[in-house]
Amino acid sequence: MDIRSQFPILDTQVHGRPLVYLDNAATTQKPLRVIEALDGYYRHLNSNIHRGAHHLATLATERYEQVRRQVQQLVNARHSHEVVFTRGTTESINLVAASFAKRYFCGDDEVIVSGMEHHSNIVPWQLAGAMLRPVPFSDEGVLDLEAYERLFSKKTRIVAVNHVSNTLGTINPIADIIRIAHAHGVPVLIDGAQAISHIAVDVQALGCDFYCFSGHKMYGPMGVGVMYGREEMLNELPPYQGGGEMIENVTFERTTYNQLPFKFEAGTPSVGDVIGLGEAISFMQEVGIDNIAAHEERLLQYATSLVSQLPDIRLFGTAPHKTSVLSFLLGSAHPYDVGTLLDQLGIAVRTGHHCTQPIMDRYGIPGTVRASFAIYNTFDEVDRLVAALQRIQPMLE
Ligand code: ALA
Repeated sequence: MDIRSQFPILDTQVHGRPLVYLDNAATTQKPLRVIEALDGYYRHLNSNIHRGAHHLATLATERYEQVRRQVQQLVNARHSHEVVFTRGTTESINLVAASFAKRYFCGDDEVIVSGMEHHSNIVPWQLAGAMLRPVPFSDEGVLDLEAYERLFSKKTRIVAVNHVSNTLGTINPIADIIRIAHAHGVPVLIDGAQAISHIAVDVQALGCDFYCFSGHKMYGPMGVGVMYGREEMLNELPPYQGGGEMIENVTFERTTYNQLPFKFEAGTPSVGDVIGLGEAISFMQEVGIDNIAAHEERLLQYATSLVSQLPDIRLFGTAPHKTSVLSFLLGSAHPYDVGTLLDQLGIAVRTGHHCTQPIMDRYGIPGTVRASFAIYNTFDEVDRLVAALQRIQPMLE
């Protein structure tokens, strides 16, 4: 299968050069079938779901609910009603944090997170009133599981960790993390935003209580995400937002709530984006998640070996189990300057703290340059990155 030709944006010229898109951890590009699904929805299907008695509403509702079953199958959830559509990982985590806190927090509450969380798995818990207990990690970017065990106390309400670090690329040992938490009687939320397009996820085998991810990091549209929650847990949690569709019966005195998953889907959802997500899942499954992972691993190995030979380079995130993220600093150059010069050569990377300021504090650096790879990237593009770094290095001294 020719994968690159399915991504029209990859033909773009940037500053007169062919685009080399290496900012996939921020968002992946979209294959034609996803773009066409969005276009097709608005041309032929647009209508509000679960409400109308008319033909289009019925078709849109069927398609929307079919994608819910696709997601169920993707992560091997026991029930499709354990899949809640949100706007993205951030909203998924905010939903869980707000509802979980309302149900279980009692005023003296701790949440164990990893030291390498994205801000979106830190701030929602702070907003909910929790004291955070971060798990430390080594210079390579590996979590200290013995230190993790010592963080549990009577005040621990939930463990919230990422499956993969967006800055370091570390694949965290979430099966062990979940097993240890459950042995302490504590539920676990996994932020899967950076894992879902690289690793096959089985929520039943993992036994996690919540697993959250975004459509736009898995070749799907922006504006749609998923909060998987175990049925028993979701039944315990109060709704996050109030509005249409999440109710069973409303009076001015009292409202009762709809069944799962609708209790957590107030208001009109982003129906077209959900349908686009379905196409993205089909794309990933047709290519094969193992093939995606194997290709990205080869690119990462190749890029790591070449980039680490550059003079005065520092790599951040050298854990043995990693996805395709290469974070680095070039001499004493500010990451933003490196990113700007790379952009002039047509190469898109992310620079800065990557919404993980505690990681930057851990290393005592302002930020990094981050190249991140997806299924459509090539070895030739890695060569262009390395050649560009060689070219700009003297300019930055
Ligand atoms: N969380 C995204 C990133 O790491 C935006 O770039």
